[in-house]
Amino acid sequence: MIVKQIPVGSMSNFTYIIADEKSKMAAVIDPSWDLEKVLDALKANDLKLLYIINTHTHFDHVLGNEQLATITGARIIMHKNSTLDKDLSVNDGDTIQLGNINIKVIFTPGHSKDGMCLLAENKLFAGDTLFIGNCGRVDLPSGSATELYDSIFGKLMKLDDRIEVYPGHDYGNRPYSTIGDEKRTNHVLKPRTKEEFLLFMQSDD
Ligand SMILES: [Fe+2]
Repeated sequence: MIVKQIPVGSMSNFTYIIADEKSKMAAVIDPSWDLEKVLDALKANDLKLLYIINTHTHFDHVLGNEQLATITGARIIMHKNSTLDKDLSVNDGDTIQLGNINIKVIFTPGHSKDGMCLLAENKLFAGDTLFIGNCGRVDLPSGSATELYDSIFGKLMKLDDRIEVYPGHDYGNRPYSTIGDEKRTNHVLKPRTKEEFLLFMQSDD
């Protein structure tokens, strides 16, 4: 699998390209600013863009959708709770096929009501659900600390420790990590009951 982590814009966002090495079929996750970097990388690797996938619909993760779709003909995939324009809706447990790669959808609301993480081989594209050393905020419209608790502790922390974590923003001390390293070092992931987590999220700014 080809993976490109592309820093874009001025809010420390990451856009990702993932592609099947053999078929050259590619998906772009969260296009927003600096589309020329994405288009250059697609071209340099001789990739054909099939899908644009958004981890959630906050503006800094979807800004580039329309332009990239127009240029490449790629189809836009979002969680079914998203109200933005999309070609395909997905939900928890669905699989997006990209050549020989299966991209598994893990519905992870909390930061937003349409948040999802994407698991491809041993790599988790976590959007704004989980950052390196932190997690997404829950105080924006449609955010919920209760839902984020269930998403993180009920789903992401149950993944294998060796799964690599690729976040939606470069907010940590390194651009990517692993589930195991985050369990050991991310203060958000300390074992807490849901009640303790809600208090923690209220006090955390
Ligand atoms: Fe966000």
